[in-house]
Amino acid sequence: MAEEKKKRDGFGSKLGLIAAAAGSAIGLGNIYRFPCELGNNGGAAFLLIYLAVVIFLGIPVMLSELVIGRRSQCNSVGAFKRLAPKSGWPIVGYMGVLCGFLIFAFYSTVSGWTLEYIVKSVANSFQGKDIKALEQDFADFHNMGWRNVMWQGVFILLTGFVVFKGVQNGIEKYAKVLMPVLLVILIVLGVRSVTLPGAKEGLAFLFKPDFSKINGQVLISALGQGFFSLSLGMGVLITYGSYVKKDDNLTSTAFSVVLADTLIALLAGIVIFPAAFSFNVNADAGMGLVFNTIPMIFNQMTGGYVFCIIFFVLLAIAALTSTISLLEVVVAYISEELHIKRQWATVIACVATMMLGCFASLSLMDNTPFTIGGKTVFDALDFITANVMLPLGGIMIVIFVGWKLGKTKFFQEVTNDGAIKASLKKIIFFIIRYLAPVAIAIVFISGLIK
Ligand code: PFF
Repeated sequence: MAEEKKKRDGFGSKLGLIAAAAGSAIGLGNIYRFPCELGNNGGAAFLLIYLAVVIFLGIPVMLSELVIGRRSQCNSVGAFKRLAPKSGWPIVGYMGVLCGFLIFAFYSTVSGWTLEYIVKSVANSFQGKDIKALEQDFADFHNMGWRNVMWQGVFILLTGFVVFKGVQNGIEKYAKVLMPVLLVILIVLGVRSVTLPGAKEGLAFLFKPDFSKINGQVLISALGQGFFSLSLGMGVLITYGSYVKKDDNLTSTAFSVVLADTLIALLAGIVIFPAAFSFNVNADAGMGLVFNTIPMIFNQMTGGYVFCIIFFVLLAIAALTSTISLLEVVVAYISEELHIKRQWATVIACVATMMLGCFASLSLMDNTPFTIGGKTVFDALDFITANVMLPLGGIMIVIFVGWKLGKTKFFQEVTNDGAIKASLKKIIFFIIRYLAPVAIAIVFISGLIK
């Protein structure tokens, strides 16, 4: 208990929660997954729906999670036990813990690639290569299954190390400084990308919607991407919300995090698509889109060698602040609910993740035996978590706050017991209670029917 107290005291400073929540939100989901999803789902039409999702659903769901966390001062399972004793609600927390574990298992695969790409960029191995050669290198790397697994293991260890040490020092210190640097590099890259020959087409793909492209699949992908990118629906923000003091302004935290996260995703789009069109990379190239296009842009830039190293280091750090949050949800649950020492909980969670995660990595090799229902283990984990579990978790969370916790307690939390105004509280509560559950359900069902 004393140990837990110490941990909760960690997010003392006001910036602590924003930094940690933004650190969780901003990651490979923005720079790697967002362009992939956008490219696979027709471009600008997807972007429009995505923006609607993050504004109208992202903010209310995020605020709901923060309210649950801070009010209960518990991990994501304990929170429901405390706020709704003797009910079925803790299931939402259990599903979140499972989801965190499953996401970590495949997210760590891509996180591992960032380490490989740091090494490649230091070794200057992109220099002078054209896009075909880079694509070949990327494919060859996937076929070195154990090399992927090794980097994945290193990344899981790194994450375990920070979580082992306790959240506050790890996240707060780094995220505050490094995320703004990532922003600056993305802006530099964006400027280079939009000035490449043929960049216009890429910008049109990104910003000129073709509404005929919208279908159930696009809707559910945008919904899943919104939840994934903002780290919603699985209790990260319940857990982080439980580490803050009563005087944090939860509403402005939610707004800031959503804004920062969306900005980074948009910038990633502005970096990737003009360059992809310029280098003749298909917009729906999927995994290679980012890992091949970005080195190619650096190849066309003065100082590209150094920038490229810095970029991949920052990408790895952005991934790390996200994996920390994934692991933290699992570890907080194991240590607080199963009463296992925090350090042991970390070891157990990391070993389990590695055991499942290596199949995600190995499933990307040519002719892999590791498939589930025709999808690679990697894709299956990605689909089931982002497109199914997170929206389901999200719907349960808003229903919980809107109907079970209720207006009075919600207002108490967002106004810090009347100390601040939170002028949007009524409209946000209305969305939480009525609109969000219905909207998520409609999108979700339309996607499933497809
Ligand atoms: N939001 C992270 C990203 O965009 O990279 C990924 C993530 C972290 C998803 C934590 C879900 C989560 F709970």
